[in-house]
Amino acid sequence: MTPRGPQLETERLVLRRWRELDLEPFAAMNADAEVMEFFPAPLTRVQSDALAARADGGFETRGFGLWALELRATGEFIGFTGLAPLPEGVGPTGGVEVGWRLARPFWGAGYATEAARAALDSAFGTLGLAEVSSITAVLNVRSQAVMRRIGMREIESFEHPRVPEASRLRPHVRFVIDRPV
Ligand SMILES: CC(C)(COP(=O)(O)OP(=O)(O)OC[C@H]1O[C@@H](n2cnc3c(N)ncnc32)[C@H](O)[C@@H]1OP(=O)(O)O)[C@@H](O)C(=O)NCCC(=O)NCCS
Repeated sequence: MTPRGPQLETERLVLRRWRELDLEPFAAMNADAEVMEFFPAPLTRVQSDALAARADGGFETRGFGLWALELRATGEFIGFTGLAPLPEGVGPTGGVEVGWRLARPFWGAGYATEAARAALDSAFGTLGLAEVSSITAVLNVRSQAVMRRIGMREIESFEHPRVPEASRLRPHVRFVIDRPV
């Protein structure tokens, strides 16, 4: 049976459903303190596997999710990019966000930007969404640079309701992009 949800291809990447073989490199990436600098803590193997299941599960339950990213040239798993519901209490009710996380060796090559553009094409094309948001900690300037590169504009600063008040990660920003006319 073909898994539900589109597989997308870009110049250098395949955005696809998750495989068992992704779990080990995904756990290594989620255990990397640099990758996880703007999250509360690195993930354990169990937490990482659960995140992969949630990332993939969205394709079955909602018709959209976070794709596993594979380098076309080598077949390597390099991280994820995709679409997810905004957290409750953030942005418009029922809003969708685009997000990304790459293993450290694959930063600096434009892969997140390339994958995010494909994810937006899917959001505005197949899914017919009117707008897509992206949120991150104010401190996470690399993520905001991806947002700007894909044409998003900063719309608000807010305190993330799920991050503890004393945390340096609580101040967040939300960027948006509208469906092209
Ligand atoms: C956020 C994250 C995905 C950004 O990765 P990134 O490599 O900076 O972003 P891109 O893949 O778009 O690559 C852009 C960089 O590649 C360079 N680049 C090289 N070739 C490129 C190309 N063909 N197209 C675009 N950029 C290219 C750009 O100049 C830029 O370099 P710079 O950062 O030195 O200015 C990465 O830092 C990450 O995974 N962080 C941890 C997880 C995280 O914080 N996720 C977001 C949470 S909300």
